[in-house]
Amino acid sequence: KIIVLDYGSQYNQLITRRIRDLGVYSELLPNTTSADEIRRINPKGIILSGGPMSVYDEGAFSIDPEIFNLGIPILGICYGLQLMSYKLGGRVEAADNREYGRAPIQVTDETSRLFANTPKEQTVWMSHGDLVIEAPAGFDIVATSKNAPITAIENKELNMYGIQFHTEVRHTDYGMDILRNFTFEIAKAEANWTMGDFIEQQVAEIREKVGDKKVLLGLSGGVDSSVVGVLLHKAIGNQLTCIFVDHGLLRKGEAEQVMKSLEGKFGLNIIKVDAKDRFMSKLDGVSDPEKKRKIIGNEFIRVFDDEATKLNGIEFLAQGTLYTDIIESGTATAETIKSHHNVGGLPEDMQFSLIEPLNTLFKDEVRHLGEELGMPSDLVWRQPFPGPGLGIRVIGELTEEKLKAVRDSDYILREEIKNAGLEREVWQYFTVLPGFRSVGVMGDGRTYDYTIGIRAVSSIDGMTADFAKIPWDVLQHISVRIVNEVENINRVVYDITSKPPATIEWE
Ligand code: XMP
Repeated sequence: KIIVLDYGSQYNQLITRRIRDLGVYSELLPNTTSADEIRRINPKGIILSGGPMSVYDEGAFSIDPEIFNLGIPILGICYGLQLMSYKLGGRVEAADNREYGRAPIQVTDETSRLFANTPKEQTVWMSHGDLVIEAPAGFDIVATSKNAPITAIENKELNMYGIQFHTEVRHTDYGMDILRNFTFEIAKAEANWTMGDFIEQQVAEIREKVGDKKVLLGLSGGVDSSVVGVLLHKAIGNQLTCIFVDHGLLRKGEAEQVMKSLEGKFGLNIIKVDAKDRFMSKLDGVSDPEKKRKIIGNEFIRVFDDEATKLNGIEFLAQGTLYTDIIESGTATAETIKSHHNVGGLPEDMQFSLIEPLNTLFKDEVRHLGEELGMPSDLVWRQPFPGPGLGIRVIGELTEEKLKAVRDSDYILREEIKNAGLEREVWQYFTVLPGFRSVGVMGDGRTYDYTIGIRAVSSIDGMTADFAKIPWDVLQHISVRIVNEVENINRVVYDITSKPPATIEWE
């Protein structure tokens, strides 16, 4: 495997990802990892990531200097290059201008191993304040650019390499080639890692860690916790207990699907808590969106706590934390705080150890893992669904009647989007029920009923979104079905705002 030492770059999670895409296992380790630990791990190569600091900053992230003597090939990227140069006797200085964006570079040394089989002129992605202005002794300068005369250095004898730009970003034209050269030609790693290996490795690690103890998992019905459930069950079978809180705000058929698949097909031991009445009574008469969200969040934790407290002898708590969640929370200590946050107010005296088997993966890798575990694609590729569920899709005060209308219309929408083959094209799609009524005519009679709004967006990450351009005839068909089949609805509208200025959800 290839390890990446973490110097805090916003891109560092991408480096390990790219190397895994090459078929070589890679993981991110803290920059405080000692040479002894690395010797124990015995990686084929070490990458020092980029980072926002200057090597001269007070408390700048450093490196155990013994790591340079391990004889393991090293690639420094951006801050990694500067740190390596600085520690090995080169000079680093603040650049006159910070450089950010695409930049053309020239490969000046034909014998370069990093740039092997890439063109002499290429475009890379730069993002730095400091620059190496003098390479350490024994290093050749192999690439240059206008703003960074020392763009890349190599010491073939010591197998140490450094680049000022970011290989891991797609804007670097030959980024993958450079990473490939480092991984296979220089570090001599073998492309033998697959999701199947990941499963085997995780199963072994989980068994080792858990022994004959018991593990608790909160199932939300979402992708991450479902995949953790199936993976853990494969590792430790009935030593795993899951709690699935049905707050009555799930989509039509959702609770049944989760139970049928996870309990029925995969044999997970699931305690399903029907907490619908608890949630509805807490939400009675509440119309403010933020209050609704808070009530649902808090009640969720209470129900989970109540059930967890009834169980005896649980020592571990499993969570579907992803790689990105960890990067966001930073250090090992921050990670624990956040994890506790995830499960909210578990009683102080319940001392759990955490198991987070997905914490090296990205969302789409988790989906592939789920498929590899044999989970149905309906479950694995489902669209995002908010924790507060349909509770924030009935605008204002909730009633059973309105919830049913949203649930039934959402079901029709999902069916028709699927029939039209737009399932993977439209990022998220659902219906909402605004609280007002309007006049209509049905048969020979006047109606005075609720409206359903259709919301469908295209997006990459939910941060920004465009309304989806669903064909008119598909929309028409959906509209006809909703008015005909859903009680209390006489009008359907389509939301044609993007985010911003609107949000995706209406509350
Ligand atoms: P907004 O409405 O903020 O939604 O544009 C962006 C994305 O986030 C989802 N969302 C949530 N997901 N808990 C979640 O897990 C929540 O409370 C929540 N609120 C919104 C929303 O469905 C969309 O995909």
